[in-house]
Amino acid sequence: MAETDMPSFGGPNAEQIKYWNEAAGETWAEREESLDQVIGPIGERALALSDAAPDERAVDVGCGCGATTAELARRVGRKGAVLGVDVSRPMLGRARARALALGLANVSFLLADAQTAELGRDAFDLLFSRFGVMFFTDPTAAFANLRRALRPGGRVAFVCWQAIQRNPWMLVPGLAIARHVPMPPPDPNRPGPFAFGDRERIQSILSGANFGEIAIQGEELSLAPGGGDVNRAVEFALEIGPGAAALRAAGAGCELRARAADTVREALEPFTQHGKLEMPAAVWLVRACRG
Ligand SMILES: C[S@@+](CC[C@H](N)C(=O)[O-])C[C@H]1O[C@@H](n2cnc3c(N)ncnc32)[C@H](O)[C@@H]1O
Repeated sequence: MAETDMPSFGGPNAEQIKYWNEAAGETWAEREESLDQVIGPIGERALALSDAAPDERAVDVGCGCGATTAELARRVGRKGAVLGVDVSRPMLGRARARALALGLANVSFLLADAQTAELGRDAFDLLFSRFGVMFFTDPTAAFANLRRALRPGGRVAFVCWQAIQRNPWMLVPGLAIARHVPMPPPDPNRPGPFAFGDRERIQSILSGANFGEIAIQGEELSLAPGGGDVNRAVEFALEIGPGAAALRAAGAGCELRARAADTVREALEPFTQHGKLEMPAAVWLVRACRG
């Protein structure tokens, strides 16, 4: 499939495209390894749910730095194919480098908005995503577009976060940062990591896009932000996610960031046991079919 240039900043997801091509995308790309460590086990659960099998053609939606794209490529094998789609140039750069380093000949990447990209008709058996489908301004239109690329009987499998209240790993540092800078609570109907937090909303998006056999399974787990190291977790909270975005929006300088870091550290300490930070998290594992 042909590579496109930078996705248009004027499209329906212009705001998110900008976000993932500036600080957020750069930071993810730099912290790729530690982020993969934190969310890797959840991705494994989603990969297992996807049932990716030899010879299949899969799309990894919002593939980011390509960890799951590479794993899908291993599962579909030499005669299968995987396409990683993402709007973030820095993250796709990492994904390409990873595929090259692993010598994956069955992988290609597309810099494009999955809500509107023309991915072909009936071209894939599987749409997969690890935390890459919550950033569309019109998620029903996005899933309808993605569904067109699936063959009849094809399936979608993805993992997304439950509501922020069920994810203290993000809520706790966020509330700490909100003591220093204005930080509106995330609107669950707007693009963002918690946009698929409500099970009924996921159900209505997928049925609105004409998917059938929708199965949404909740799972609670614990995460070790910063690999379980509080200081690294504090850095992480100041660089990635809604709290980090609020600090950037407020133009926080060194002094304010240092004060926010202290408050975040204090808030995280109670979750440390035997020197290791572990925090509760909750996800939805979702599967549906194109009937
Ligand atoms: C939370 S990150 C997850 C990245 C990757 N799936 C992972 O698990 O490491 C969300 C990803 O979705 C991508 N994304 C956001 N909006 C998108 C869109 N409209 N089309 C394609 N990708 C998008 C971002 O650029 C980012 O790489």
